[in-house]
Parts: sequence; C-alpha cells; structure tokens
Amino acid sequence: MHSQQIRSTFLDFFTGRDHQLVRSSPLVPDDPTLLLANAGMNQFKPYYLGETPAPFPRAVSVQKCARTSDIENVGRTSRHGTFFEMLGNFSFGDYFKADTIAYAYELVTKGYGLDPERLWATVYLDDDESIRCWERIGIPSSRIQRLGKEDNFWSMGVPGPCGPNSELYYDRGPEFGAEGGPAVNDERYMEIWNLVFMQFGRGEGDGKTDYPILGELPMKGIDTGMGLERLAVILQGVDNVCQTDLLAPTLHTVQELASRAYPGSGAEKVSFQVVTEHARAMAFLIADGVLPSNEGRGYILRRLMRRAVRHGRLLGIDGPLLPAVTGSVVANLGPAWPELTEQAGLIEQVVRAEEESFGRTLRQGAKLLDAAVRRAEEEKTGTLSGETAFELHDTFGFPVELTLEAAHDAGLAVDEDRFAALLAAQQQRAKSGGKTRTAAALRRMDAYRELSARHGRTDFVGYERLTAETTVLGLLDGGQQIEAAGEGAEVELVLGRTPFYAEGGGQVGDTGSLRTAGGAVLEITDTRRGLPGFHVHTARVVSGEVRAGDTAQAEVDGVRRAAVARSHSATHVLHAVVREQLGRHAAQHGSLVDDGRLRFDFVHFSALSEGQLEEIEERVNGHLLADPEVRVWHADRAEAERAGALALFGEKYEEKVRIVDIGDFSRELCGGTHVVHGSQVGAVRITGESSVGANLRRIEAYTGREALLSANRERRLLRELACLLGSRPEDAVGSLRKRLDLLARAQGEVERLRGSELAAKAATLAEKAEVVPGGVLITGRVEDVTAQELRQLASTVAQRVAGGVGVVVLGTTDGDKAMLAAAVGGLLRDSGVEAQHVLTEAAAVIGGGAGGKGALANAGGRHAGKLADALLVARAAAAGILGRRFQ
Ligand code: ALA
Repeated sequence: MHSQQIRSTFLDFFTGRDHQLVRSSPLVPDDPTLLLANAGMNQFKPYYLGETPAPFPRAVSVQKCARTSDIENVGRTSRHGTFFEMLGNFSFGDYFKADTIAYAYELVTKGYGLDPERLWATVYLDDDESIRCWERIGIPSSRIQRLGKEDNFWSMGVPGPCGPNSELYYDRGPEFGAEGGPAVNDERYMEIWNLVFMQFGRGEGDGKTDYPILGELPMKGIDTGMGLERLAVILQGVDNVCQTDLLAPTLHTVQELASRAYPGSGAEKVSFQVVTEHARAMAFLIADGVLPSNEGRGYILRRLMRRAVRHGRLLGIDGPLLPAVTGSVVANLGPAWPELTEQAGLIEQVVRAEEESFGRTLRQGAKLLDAAVRRAEEEKTGTLSGETAFELHDTFGFPVELTLEAAHDAGLAVDEDRFAALLAAQQQRAKSGGKTRTAAALRRMDAYRELSARHGRTDFVGYERLTAETTVLGLLDGGQQIEAAGEGAEVELVLGRTPFYAEGGGQVGDTGSLRTAGGAVLEITDTRRGLPGFHVHTARVVSGEVRAGDTAQAEVDGVRRAAVARSHSATHVLHAVVREQLGRHAAQHGSLVDDGRLRFDFVHFSALSEGQLEEIEERVNGHLLADPEVRVWHADRAEAERAGALALFGEKYEEKVRIVDIGDFSRELCGGTHVVHGSQVGAVRITGESSVGANLRRIEAYTGREALLSANRERRLLRELACLLGSRPEDAVGSLRKRLDLLARAQGEVERLRGSELAAKAATLAEKAEVVPGGVLITGRVEDVTAQELRQLASTVAQRVAGGVGVVVLGTTDGDKAMLAAAVGGLLRDSGVEAQHVLTEAAAVIGGGAGGKGALANAGGRHAGKLADALLVARAAAAGILGRRFQ
C-alpha cells in the first residue's frame, strides 16, 4: 500500500465518522513552551485545557512532527526518525476509551488488512477498563500487557494535557527477535498506534520534579497518534523506514552519490539511513521557515545537516551532498506536501550554503585538531584533553566523533569523561535558562486561562471602530487577579469588547485610553494576545479607581493607529516588490510594523546594492502612488491558497482566514489593520539594509509623516554641512572634494619641509663627530622632534654620516619627559654590537628602561632635567664598547 493510500485510508475512515479534517500545523508551533511540533495534539492543546472552546467535537489530521531528543537512535534502529508524519484522531469531550479502541481495531484489521493474530496491546498499570475493551473486540488477554509510566503514560514533555495511554503493537515475526510481547522486545513487536486518554494537566515544574500533575482537565478527550512510517514498513513488507516509498528514492540518491549499494557493512547501513532520514527532516524544517543557526530550532536543523554531511563523508561522498538528497525529498514528497515544492529554491540554497560553510568549519577544525594532537604528542601525555575536544565541538562545531577518529589515528586517547561532563554542564545551563523564561510566562498564562475559561474570547471590534462601550472583566497585577486599582497603578486589563488591536503578525499593539462609568481614567500603553483570541491590555491608572465589573468607554489612539496602518500596508507592498525583484525565495521572515516605521526581514543570500535598494524603494512608492484599493475578504484556507494568497512562514492560521489584497499585486493572509487606499501611505523611505542572521536580510524604512520628517532631518544636516563649507547645498560635495585635495597637498608640503629640517639637523650633528679608538661617536641633543623622528634621525646619521663604525646617541625632551635614541653602524652590528647596550645605564639616569633590538634602540623616562647627564653616560658607554672592540 502506497503511503498516499495509507494517509487517505486513515482520513476517509475518520471523516466518515464525523471527524473534522484539520490540516497539519507548521513544524514551528504556536506555543512558546514548545520548540517544534512533536505530536498531532499540539495544535489542539487549548481545547483540552479549556482555553478555547473546541470548534468541533472530533478531528482527524496528518501532522508533521519532529523529535530530535533520541537523534542518536536514528539510523541505528529501524523505526526512529527525527521527522515523521503522525496520523491522529481526536475527541474533545466526545467519545472516550471504548470507541477509540474499537475504531483503532477496525481500521487496522479491515482498513489496512493487518492480521488480527499479530496484534498486541499494552495498557497503563491498573487500566482494567482498556483491557476489557480490547478483549471485547478480539485481542485475547494473553496478548495484552500492563506497562508503567515510562511506556504508558503520555505527556507532551512541556506543561500541557497528559494521560494514561494504551498502545497497539504489531508482531513482525521471529526473524526480528525473541518472543514475549512488547514488554520484552520492541523491535520485533513494533508499536504502531498510541491511544492517549487525555485526563490530566501538567503545570510548571518546581525545578526538582518535572511539570507536576495539577489536576483533571476541563475537557477530557482522546488523542491518538499512529506513525505513517511504521505502518508503511509493515504494509510494504520492508525492514526499515528508508526502504518505504516515503524515503526509498532518497536512499537511492545516496547510493548513487556514494557509488555503493545499501546496506553494505553495519556502519555503512547506519550512515545510509542517517543521510536519508535527515534529508527529509531538513527539507521540511526549512520549508516551514527554520534556518540553520546556533540556537533553538536553528541549531537542531544545523545539527541534522552536519550529522548528514558527516555520515555522507563516511560513505565516501566528498562533493556536495545535501542539495541532491533534499532535492529528491522535494520531488518525492512534494505532491503530498506542497510547501516542499513551493520552497524548493529556498531549501536548495540553504542546504548548499550550510554545507559549504560546514566544509570550511571542518577544515579550520582539522587545523586546530592537528595542532592539539601535535601538542599532546610533544608533551607525551598520550591523551587529548576533554577541554580541547569540547572547545572544538562547542566553538567550531567540530563533531566529537571526528576528534575521536583523528586522535585514534595518532595513537592518542581522548578524555571522553571530561568531555561528557563539560557537555552535560553546558546542556544544563541551556535548559535552566529556557525553564525560567517559560516559568515566568506560565504564571501569567494561568491567570489568562482562568479568565478566558470564564468569559470566552475577546470581542474585537477594532477593524471597524476605534471606540467601544465595554466592561472590565478582569484586573491583573503581576499575574494575580485583583478587585480594584487606584491612581498610579500599573495593571493588566481584560475587556469584554475591545477596539484595541493586540500585537500580532508583526504589527504593534494599540494604545489609547479607557474611561470608566465611575470616572476613572486609564492610559492603555500596550495590547497583547494573552491567549489566542484573548486580548490583554497593559494600563496605567491616571486618575480615580478602576474596579473589576466597571463599564467603560475605550478609545484607541487614532493618529498612532493610522500611522501603524500605513506601515502595515507598506510592508505588504514591500514584500511583493522584494519577491518580484529578488526572486520567490525572498519570503518574509518576520517584520515589525510600527508607528511610522517598519522593519522587514526576508530570506536572501547576499547584501543588496545601493542600486537594488533604490529600485525597490522606487517601485514600492510607484505602486502606492497609483493609489490601489486595499480590499479585505474572508475565505476558507484552501480557497485563499488557490487564489494565490501568501501565507507567512511559521504562522498558524485558522481554517477561515482573512485576506488583504492591495491592488492586483499583493495578496496576503493577514489579521492586521491597513489603509483603505494605497496613496494614504504617503511615502516609504528605506533607511537601511543589513544582515540579521544566516541568509536573513533586513530592510528598515520610514512611512507617511515619518518619511517626511526623516527627509527633513537629512536636509537640515546637508544645510549645516553646506553652511560650514560656505557653499550652496547642491555644491557641497564639489566644494568638499576641492578642500580635501587642498588638504592633501598641504600635508605633502608639510612633510617635505619637515624632511629638509631633519636633513639640516643631521648635517649639524655630523659636524660633532668624534673619532675615538674603535670608531666614530656622535652624541647630541636635538629639539622639536617626536620620538619617532628622533629614532629616524639617529639611524640616518649612523648610516650616512658616521659610516659602518659609527655610534649615534641622540636625546630630546618633551615637557617633563626625556627620550633617547641610539643607532649603530652596519659593521658594528655585524660584529655583534647591540644598540640597546649603549642605552642601558643612560636609561636609568632619566628614570626609564631601554628597549629596541639590533641596530636601533630607544629609552624614555620622566626626568627631562637629567638628559644632559644621560647623554654623558651614554657617550661613555659607547666609547667603552668601541674601545673594547679596538683592543
Ligand atoms: N500524542 C500521542 C503521541 O504523540 C498520541 O504519541
């Protein structure tokens, strides 16, 4: 059975039983506690927790999932993957154990035709009810096993719903190992379907025990997950996920690149499987907007890519690997997952660039490693330190396996225990950092949840109006609900109805004011989404007292809102123009839509030239000046996509979406507020372009009034410059250029004059030459020279005037400071005379030390008054040196 048929059989079975078909959410979840989507239930978490009423009692989906915690198992077992498709059916307060067990059994035996005799089930310890359900349906008690919390109690790994579960297993037969059921052998008895009975909620941990169970869920339900890959392994009669139709074409590509056949040796088999499996994961991650970086999701992606390249090398693939293997993933899975095809260009470019940069890392790391190995050999320790291995890994991204290999080749051991300890300490640091952040957020979330469960979603009326009659539903202070707040208090405010837009889609939250019927006046300083569809206002009580339950009049700051709307419409037009000018890969990757300014991040691989930026700015303004109509409409997600609406990376959309069209050149899914006609934006003025991460560029611009003000600021600057130059603004550049030329010429002249001054000084000094036994001696004091000029002068006089056997000692003062320079001629140098020795004692006289090497030395000290003495001492030293040479 082809994978497409496995998916459709599943979806048909459940939609035929009144389940709403819900599309997969992106791999980047809309949940601050979760790095990557890891289960079909993720997007339904608010329904189980009672934060949002479930719009349907039953759902079915095929969810893209990523799990990288057991990445080391990938390639080593037949069933682990970092990416997989999870087939799931869900009930929110609807059916429970008996029905879900019955559905699972029917679908597996009838829909997929699995032999009922090979099915096994496990249940959570004392869950007798599930045992009865399985028995009733046809699995004898001899093939039902009870397992503990490890296996049969499912949680998300972060705060959220959880519950006991029951798993369905398939016996692959004796060739896969010993008998005895899933409790003893999970390679032979392969888990195919996990049925979770969602009953409890886990909350924030206390740091000692992880995420304790807080109590029963408001909305109990069913959450199931069946691995498409595992089912395909069974139904297609293969040993390993890489041989199913999902991955076989990619495995084939790897074999071609490696010029060898799968599976090969045990180690080769693992490498084949790692490259194949990781290729799929990276293609899906990039298609959902993840880019390689050194933290969070980006780091997970980077690790997958580097691991794949490394295993590619183990297979003898030295040339580019990732573009070809991800290309085959796109070709094979694109029909089922259109985002792969849409982002094919991006995937290609990102993996190519990352593979090249990893190549550089490897070369750089290899050098450092060589040096470390050499050091270890010289020091004869026989070991490479754990610190070195860790630094290579942590700072240079150099895989520790390569360090081990290289050390092994050199006959060295690696202090692996120390390495592991350093790694564990670093991971602990990373983890605790993440936890405290989440903990603070979760405290407030609990309060929001409580209020939202009581009052439901916020009634947002801000698309049509800027004012509204409303009720204060709740007041919060630091996550605690309070009854009242007096003058000067800073609170969070929940309103029944609100005209305030909550920050989202890059657009900043609205600000404004609130007046209660009782006469209190509040300033609203920000509006955020506390939960989906649940607005939280940050407010300061200006006067009076506000109480929960008050009726009030809310009013948005209309001037600011209009300026924000201009920036939002400008951002859409900019997005369209950037894609048109740079290519389809240049998709939006985050934005800030603010009062009079915008920041727009997009994917691109090199800096933009001045010319490109001007062209982009010109076209954006051109489009807006043509005064296109801005039209907002609603549709089903699928319909909107057919109509070509751009969805943004990583955003989660409901099934009903809002679409914003600007003229006929921009169409985006968007919840933000906009102008009605393009020309209302006024002008858009790009102020800069920069890099904000690997393959990510940022354009910043002013809009509307701010664009004008920024032009005025520049005009003022230009006027000031022109005024200083005494020219008209339009002549300022020419005028400045002339002055710079003049200045350069003047500088040249100064240097020339200085040169002849120094030459004259040298001539005067030459007259002081004394012939002493062993050579020629010149000592003297010069005025008005810098330390550098003093050295230069000494050296010139020694070479040109005193000849090969001359010693020159010069001194000067600068305020309180005295400086000395000594130079010796070429012949003296050749016979081993060091200029520094001439100054050793003299330096002490002026209160300093002598420095320098070979033919030239200098000294400096604080006793300007001692210069004459110092010169005498130096002269004596020089005469001594020459005299000894003469004897
Ligand atoms: N959420 C359950 C799982 O991921 C079904 O296994």
